[in-house]
Amino acid sequence: MTSSPSEPLLKVEKLNAGYGSTRILFDIDLKLMRGEIVVVLGANGAGKSTLMNAISGMCTIQGGRVTFDGQDITGWKAHRIVGSGLAQCPEGRQIFQRLTVEENLQAAFIDRGRKSFAEIRDEVYDLFPVLRERRHSLASRMSGGQQQMLAIGRSLMAQPSVILLDEPSLGLAPKLIHQIFEIVLDLAKKDISVVLVEQNVRLALEVGDYAYVLESGHCRLEGGAAKLMSDPSLAELYLAGHSHLEASNAPAH
Ligand SMILES: Nc1ncnc2c1ncn2[C@@H]1O[C@H](COP(=O)(O)OP(=O)(O)OP(=O)(O)O)[C@@H](O)[C@H]1O
Ligand SMILES: [Mg+2]
Repeated sequence: MTSSPSEPLLKVEKLNAGYGSTRILFDIDLKLMRGEIVVVLGANGAGKSTLMNAISGMCTIQGGRVTFDGQDITGWKAHRIVGSGLAQCPEGRQIFQRLTVEENLQAAFIDRGRKSFAEIRDEVYDLFPVLRERRHSLASRMSGGQQQMLAIGRSLMAQPSVILLDEPSLGLAPKLIHQIFEIVLDLAKKDISVVLVEQNVRLALEVGDYAYVLESGHCRLEGGAAKLMSDPSLAELYLAGHSHLEASNAPAH
């Protein structure tokens, strides 16, 4: 099914979700248009990953609705959601450490009847030349930045039109963080719309079109990325003693 270009590609309405009967998210609304990058911000434990998990079918939806590409996908199983073109690149990478780069890509390939494994794999290698160079290396032998590229590459093997990226820059050196943000922009140019969860508020708002700020499972603030950047309530709400408005200086892995 294909939604009209004026309709959001992904729409979350009054979403309540959590784990079993525990409620983590309360009445969350989110819209992602085709080609857009939407950013989800919030302190540790605010519910960002839970929101990604709720959209991708990895936790319990307790109320509300998720619509993707004109279809109501609320309550769909995770494999059916990814098969329909909505892929998640989870926090912490979760690649198969004991498989090679290429075996990781092979394991994530979803045949959607359009392109072969080799075609998609080559597109991923074009996006991340270092993965082509190291195609026969074990994932465990790759650096943190390369593993993050592999994690994103794996999500792309599902040929998604939307990708949920959960903290792709976590633990990376500043140079690599910038590289990851360039890749996020490249994805959007390739018409893969992105929901980006980030701790690097400033960088995320530079690449993003629109942003939502979560606190304790509620959406407390939303708006155009440029407008939010200068909104004093962003610092009040989100920082609360943290220094996340600055780019991370975390050491390289
Ligand atoms: N599998 C789970 N079962 C039960 N509760 C969970 C589970 N995963 C997360 N939670 C709880 O849900 C709340 C939100 O967690 P979540 O991981 O969504 O936050 P987050 O914004 O992604 O945080 P972080 O920035 O640390 O990644 C937290 O209170 C957390 O303890
Ligand atoms: Mg998280």
